[in-house]
Amino acid sequence: MSHITIHPKILYYGTPVILLSTENTDGSTNISPISSSWALGRYVILGLGVGSQAYENMRERRECVINLPDAGLWRQVEALAPLTGRDPVPPNKQELGFRHEKDKFAAAALTSVASEEIRPERIAECPLQFEAVVRDIRIPSYADDFAIVETEVRRVHAAEQIAIGDRYINPKAWNPLIYSFRHYFGLTDELGKSYRSET
Ligand SMILES: Cc1cc2nc3c(=O)[nH]c(=O)nc-3n(C[C@H](O)[C@H](O)[C@H](O)COP(=O)(O)O)c2cc1C
Repeated sequence: MSHITIHPKILYYGTPVILLSTENTDGSTNISPISSSWALGRYVILGLGVGSQAYENMRERRECVINLPDAGLWRQVEALAPLTGRDPVPPNKQELGFRHEKDKFAAAALTSVASEEIRPERIAECPLQFEAVVRDIRIPSYADDFAIVETEVRRVHAAEQIAIGDRYINPKAWNPLIYSFRHYFGLTDELGKSYRSET
């Protein structure tokens, strides 16, 4: 393999899409597609632009649902892509073609369902839904346009088809939507498993 130095405009190398539910000031639920996240034990760390409604909502009302769409939902995710809950739309988002949308559920033909421990609603079509609370929000000293939001998952809802009893998700049945350099993918066939897998 021979390599060249390049200067890519983005570094989004392929992570699962989350549809993040947060609560607006009026009690309604906003939905924001994001892909910058990772899990550490019971905690999920999110990367959020400070110009997003999701950031405003999580700073003020420190709860969210981490809804995980499967690959079949990519068109609904993309229907949300040019929308923001911010009103008015911030100038930098206007330049990118964003428009304000208050009812993201209607805009993407998604169904709301009440959460059990927190106020933002879940998205019924997503096979995995994590109800979570915010534990910390940091703006890095080296970049002020992104926030690192640390959440603690309090309750997990899994579609019966992907659950194995009460303790496991069936990775053969769960097909996350992957966002790779701004293109959407599902997973291909299984290649193998970790020595720590119990399924
Ligand atoms: C697939 C996808 C992944 C995205 N990933 C992120 C992300 O990780 N963090 C982020 O802040 N914005 C991300 N965005 C952009 C947000 O969706 C966008 O800022 C949107 O305005 C957020 O909605 P809101 O302003 O109503 O919160 C992503 C968009 C798409 C379509």
